[in-house]
Amino acid sequence: MVGGATTVVGVIGNPIEHSLSPRMHNAAFEYLGLDYVYIPLRVLEKDLKNAVRGAKAFNFRGFNVTIPHKVSILRFLDKVESTARKIGAVNTVVNEDGKLSGYNTDGLGALEALREAGVDPEGKKILVIGAGGASRAITFYLAGVCSELAILNRTRSKAVKLASDLKSAGFKAYGNGLTVEALERELVDTDILINTTSVGMHPDVDRSPVPEELLHRDLVVFDIVYNPLETMLLRYARKVGAKPVDGVGMLVNQGAISFKMWTGCEAPRDVMRKAVMDSLLGRD
Ligand SMILES: NC(=O)c1ccc[n+]([C@@H]2O[C@H](COP(=O)([O-])OP(=O)(O)OC[C@H]3O[C@@H](n4cnc5c(N)ncnc54)[C@H](OP(=O)(O)O)[C@@H]3O)[C@@H](O)[C@H]2O)c1
Repeated sequence: MVGGATTVVGVIGNPIEHSLSPRMHNAAFEYLGLDYVYIPLRVLEKDLKNAVRGAKAFNFRGFNVTIPHKVSILRFLDKVESTARKIGAVNTVVNEDGKLSGYNTDGLGALEALREAGVDPEGKKILVIGAGGASRAITFYLAGVCSELAILNRTRSKAVKLASDLKSAGFKAYGNGLTVEALERELVDTDILINTTSVGMHPDVDRSPVPEELLHRDLVVFDIVYNPLETMLLRYARKVGAKPVDGVGMLVNQGAISFKMWTGCEAPRDVMRKAVMDSLLGRD
């Protein structure tokens, strides 16, 4: 139960009411008997600076950051970890003796989710659809392990910019516009396809960023969208005999990494996964 000595963490964003993170983290605190609470905080863009000051003044242990603040928060933090700075987005803030440090746990969370699913990206060709915040986080982690990385995005210039930022960081990557021709060309020899766009996310559940006929059975298809659990893209993947990987693993793992930063404890990932699944499947 929340008391005078309870340590406070949370998530800032807008909208925030659909976030699964409060359930996931509070279930983990309860399971480990930690005197922590995780609260959702709706923060408008114009109020971000004051919200960050407030988190410091209230002595929050830290907080997650979600849409639309992942990029704009960087300028209000005392320190930003070097990969998060290259990514250009922060999803986790830790209060270290009154100084706020920013990290990005999305990329490592995605890499761990692939490995948990039995997929080793080492030496593989990866095709990433999308060049937004999640794509930037994921590509900065995967570029170091895969053999070839292609990025296709609806707005071509963003894919080209991301590839160029990756190259500046010493990685090899290629960016282009998201067209059927480019998909066809890249998918032929791709091992792992990753959707980082919001296409297929609730309520837009009848759409896929890649047509079924371009998929093949030697692919791993990782969709980071987790609502619905089986997106149209993952349904297509299953139909053609490819290996589908859903977005829940990434959600749980990025959360588990943040959890350890705040508490110093290994996160109970199974408990967190169950809390997420209960929510998604309406089992609460
Ligand atoms: N599983 C997890 O833990 C996890 C973590 C983070 C995010 N996510 C999910 O990942 C998705 C993206 O998040 P984000 O933070 O990266 O968002 P973001 O920064 O706003 O990027 C959105 C991306 O989706 C593309 N896009 C949007 N609508 C499209 C359409 N109709 N056709 C083609 N491309 C379209 C955008 O292309 P343009 O550049 O052309 O606009 C951009 O590349 C969301 O669904 C989010 O819920 C999951």
